[in-house]
Amino acid sequence: MQGKSRETFSSGLAVFFATLGSAVGLGNIWKFPYLTGENGGGAFLLVYFLCILLVGIPVMLCEFYAGRKTRKNAFGAYQQIKPGPVWKHIGTMGVGSAYFIMFFYSCVAGWVYYYLFKALKGDFIGVTLETAKAQFGATVVGPYSPIIWQVIVLIVVCAIVAAGVQKGIEKMTKTLMPVLFLLILICDLRAITLPGASEGLQFLFHVDFSKLTAPVILTALGLAFFKLSLGMGTMTTYASYFTHDNNLFRTAAKVATADTLVSLLAGIAIFPTVFSFGMEPGAGPGLLFMTIPLVFSQMPLGNLLLIAFFFLTSIAATTAMLSLVEVPVAYFVEEKGYTRRSAAILTGIIILAFGVLASLSADKSSLLGHITFGGKGFFDWFDYLSSNIMLPLGGLMIAVLIGYSVSKADIEKEFSNGGTLHQEGIITLFFFVIRYVTPALLIIVFLNSIGIIR
Ligand code: PHE
Repeated sequence: MQGKSRETFSSGLAVFFATLGSAVGLGNIWKFPYLTGENGGGAFLLVYFLCILLVGIPVMLCEFYAGRKTRKNAFGAYQQIKPGPVWKHIGTMGVGSAYFIMFFYSCVAGWVYYYLFKALKGDFIGVTLETAKAQFGATVVGPYSPIIWQVIVLIVVCAIVAAGVQKGIEKMTKTLMPVLFLLILICDLRAITLPGASEGLQFLFHVDFSKLTAPVILTALGLAFFKLSLGMGTMTTYASYFTHDNNLFRTAAKVATADTLVSLLAGIAIFPTVFSFGMEPGAGPGLLFMTIPLVFSQMPLGNLLLIAFFFLTSIAATTAMLSLVEVPVAYFVEEKGYTRRSAAILTGIIILAFGVLASLSADKSSLLGHITFGGKGFFDWFDYLSSNIMLPLGGLMIAVLIGYSVSKADIEKEFSNGGTLHQEGIITLFFFVIRYVTPALLIIVFLNSIGIIR
């Protein structure tokens, strides 16, 4: 099955856009701005940048190594790097994490699609705080609309993945990522020319070191993981489709930089707007789904901007989901002998079976909202288990495996593309970081996330 018929991306540009498409997602548009604003603005940003540099990029490079070297899905890749009963389960856990993330991610993506649809219909014209809240409540509580939109998201995503690496993932990400950049820039231009915009920019960028406590630093580290799609085999799987002459260091640096840029641009679009209309910079889903329709609908050309905003958010959510779905699909195709199409359908069905639980429990007043285990409902458990436990653990295992089981000569060979690139200095630095710095930081975040240290 593997080897002869395995697809790759067609060019370096395709590699860049697909990988960026995975990184850019709902994380940039609501998680990043809100966490940055809440945790000290500029000071949090500095820590986040350090996390990207010392943990994010190194783990991404380890995943690139594993994927491109073996040209296998996440399970097969780690099994080949270190055969035996333990390390292949980086891949098993990766497939598990991909599902857990998709259970709630597909639900939020469904809300985003629904909001795009509502914006197109003009439902938000003349909206007030009360009606904006009521519309969000009706969307989340359902019970039918969240599930219908979740099914639509899954059909779109699984159909693109089923179409293949080049005809599906590559084609969509190459077309959509530039559109996303353009739309976000338009929203930014509008936002920074609003009266009172500077207050919003200040909220985002002011440096307040007193807010930098241990949990805040750990939040930045967790965000770096989720943001760059690390620790669960997504980047491993995508790298297995990279071209043989791709400069892995350069791709990792470009993707991390562009992803951070999108996050900053999203913050710049959201906060000046929020402040200019005298609203509270509320947290999480509330910010995106209640505040944005309200403020955009009150400005000139507001409904068009609102359509642009939810269109770009839909693009971000969709391209991130492609990479999530590709993890189990590549696994089913290569390890279990499924066709791409049936693997995509099976994956869609599994996500829906459990994702429905996320949809029906997202709000406390929704159908399953009152069912909780240890204070968390289904939606929160899916989010917590994947982001706080599975990703850091996966990232730690990946860094330790590559740092201690792969020889420096092998690393050099893969990163220099068989000797054609000369990067000795940076390879030595990379080797040092993944052996000592990254695992140490990850052990701290992991112990914290399971509550052993505070
Ligand atoms: N990086 C994506 C985002 O920010 C989420 C994601 C996590 C995608 C893990 C793939 C794997 O929304």
